[in-house]
Formats: sequence, structure tokens, C-alpha cells
Amino acid sequence: MRTRPLKVALLGCGVVGSEVARIMTTHADDLAARIGAPVELAGVAVRRPSKVREGIDPALVTTDATALVKRGDIDVVVEVIGGIEPARALITTAFEHGASVVSANKALLAQDGAALHALAEEQGKDLYYEAAVAGAIPLIRPLRESLAGDKVNRVLGIVNGTTNFILDKMDSTGAGYQEALDEATALGYAEADPTADVEGFDAAAKAAILAGIAFHTRVRLDDVYREGMTEVTAADFASATRMGCTIKLLAICERAADGGSVTARVHPAMIPLSHPLASVRGAYNAVFVESDAAGQLMFYGPGAGGAPTASAVLGDLVAVCRNKLSGATGPGDSAYTQLPVSPMGEVVTRYHISLDVADKPGVLAQVATVFAEHGVSIDTVRQQGRQDGGGEASLVVVTHRASDASLNGTVEALRNLDTVRGVASIMRVEGE
Ligand code: HSE
Repeated sequence: MRTRPLKVALLGCGVVGSEVARIMTTHADDLAARIGAPVELAGVAVRRPSKVREGIDPALVTTDATALVKRGDIDVVVEVIGGIEPARALITTAFEHGASVVSANKALLAQDGAALHALAEEQGKDLYYEAAVAGAIPLIRPLRESLAGDKVNRVLGIVNGTTNFILDKMDSTGAGYQEALDEATALGYAEADPTADVEGFDAAAKAAILAGIAFHTRVRLDDVYREGMTEVTAADFASATRMGCTIKLLAICERAADGGSVTARVHPAMIPLSHPLASVRGAYNAVFVESDAAGQLMFYGPGAGGAPTASAVLGDLVAVCRNKLSGATGPGDSAYTQLPVSPMGEVVTRYHISLDVADKPGVLAQVATVFAEHGVSIDTVRQQGRQDGGGEASLVVVTHRASDASLNGTVEALRNLDTVRGVASIMRVEGE
């Protein structure tokens, strides 16, 4: 074994960074044996230097992250700060000063992955980011390496633990959205401002990264269609239950049947209880991958948290250090297909539409005609008279597969019918 240690600069020492430092220290001998050289924590860049950080030599702590990555003797920079800046500038500087980079930064990778990969390649360095998607779950490297000989056609994932916790709570207790969110906040699953999670921004960044890697193309954050899950109601869950389904916030990346384009989207959807993703409970994540040769694969585990995320970071650190010792680099950017990303209107799926209608002769025929006029084929219809005696009924229509554009046209026309008092909910049905 080489005795000269590989030097690691840690940028950020919060929930994830402190776990990275802890594991580097407590597992030092094993890491050295697996890599073939010791790894040394050479510096830790933080915002608040006065905070006591157990197990970290205060002499390593600095507030000058730029100076740390510019030192010139750093082999690997581990970035666990998050956000776009200063993370982007620091990673860029790290590459320019001879370091490889391990990052957990989904927002940055989704927005600027192409430029960062290009710079890494130009400098002959590694850029690894297993922790950016679904925490501890090995997913990026399986897609980049294990499945590199296959053709991935679809990635369907629960990639946000906070929203899965909330939806699972609504499903299992009948709670409304706000009540379930309050519990998620009290238990520390949801942030004080839960917008990034509940509005699907976090999942959309992960979808962009997954789609790009899975289909060897460029998918940016702006290419991902996004709907949050704040409008999902207890009534939607009751309806899903009647259909033998549950509701999940899904990140869905698909290659078109003709192979000429891809789509990426995040939205709540009904999935059958028989689908493996339906059994993903609490704050867990899972990603279901469909490929030509392997068939169906499911990756499951904790998608967030200090130690689980640090596990993914450490795995990357070992891989990057091994590459460094052998004078090689790992897989770089593989966006060679340059497939266009189709707009949401071209996505084809099934829909569950809940309407409040007048309960009188001819209404069902009127509604069915609107679907027919827009080329949307109805699979099932369920009508339920209201108990309030107001001459209204709930009509639940489930369609066969139709394009999002046709469905939107249908809903617009339905809203214009005098007999349709309201469109209570529209939800896509996936995983069938
Ligand atoms: N906030 C995310 C989640 C974890 O709830 O899954 C970090 O991406």
C-alpha cells in the first residue's frame, strides 16, 4: 500500500458533511485498505467556524473555501454545500487546481452538469455524484456503469422522501394534506419551508439527472415538467383506493416508443397497489428501471439523511481515489444521443378525472361526447349520487392512454359544459 495519503477537502460540514468526516475517521483503516492508500482530511470549509464539531481537528476548519480548493495539493474535493453558488465556482476552481470532485448537489448537476462534466474531462479529472439522487441508494453508478451495455427505456421513481412520507400518511390514516405535512414537519422530515419538496422542485432536479444518464442525452431542469402534490386530497385517496391504487409523487423519465425523443416529468399519480413502488412507505425512496435486456429493476432505500447520504459520498470517494491511484478516470459525460426532450403535451398516459355534474338525463352522454370529440377513449365511468339532494352527482372517468394535450383539450371543453359544475381533480394513472 502506498503510504503517502490522498488529500481530501470537505466543503460543508452540516448534516451530511459531518457524517462524511466521521466515517472517514472511524473507517480510516478499511478505506485505506480498499483504496490502496490512506485518505487524509486536509481541510474542512464551513460558514460558522465557532461551532463545535466533534471529531474534527479545529486546525482543519476554515471559512475560506476558495483558498482550500486552490491549495494545489488536494486530490479530491467533496462538495456537500448544496445550491448553485458558491458550489459551482468552488467545483470549477477545484478542477482547475488539479482535484477530482465528489458532489451531492442535485440542483447544480441538473442545471450545469454538462459544463461541469466538460471541465472535468478537459482537466482529466473525475466528477462523481451518487449522493445527488436518492441518498444512499446506488443508482447513478448502476445507470452509468452496470447498465452501460443495456438500453434503458423508462425510469419511474419515488425520489423525495418528504413527499412520500406525507402521501403515505394521507393514505394510511385518511388525513388531509395539511395535517400530514404538519406531522412531517414535527418529525423533522419536512423543512420549515417545504416548497422545494412539496412543489416537486427537488424531484425535478433528480429527474433531470436520471433522464440524462439513463438515455445518454442532455436533460436540463427546465426540460422537466413539474407539478407538486399540495392539491392531492383525502377524496383522491378514497378514489384511488376504490381503483386498487395509491398515490405517489413520481419522477418519470421515458424514451418514446420510436426511440426518437425522451420526456421527463414530476407529478402526483395513481399507481396500482400491485406495482412495487406502491409498497414504498414512509420517507423511503425507490426507483424502478425498465431496460431492454435486464427487464425490470428496482432500487430501494433511504433517500436522505446524514449517514445514508454520506454512505453514497464515501462510495464515490473510494472510487475516485482508486481511479487516481491507477492513473485513470471513471465514466464521464455520455450525452452522445442528443435526443430532443418532448413537451408534456406529447406524453401519453391514462387519466383519472373526477367531475361534479348535474344529475339529470343526458349528462353522461354529453360528457362522453366531449371525450370522444377529443379522441380520448374512456375505460371506466363511475357515478355516485350526492346525499345533499342538490341534484348533483360525482362522475369519475378513467381513460385509456391519451396524450396530455388531448386530455387538456377535453378538460377545457368539459369546464364549458353547463352541466359540469366543476372538475374536482385530474390525476394521471401510471405503472400499469
Ligand atoms: N428533501 C429531500 C427528500 C432529500 O425529502 O427526499 C434531499 O434531496
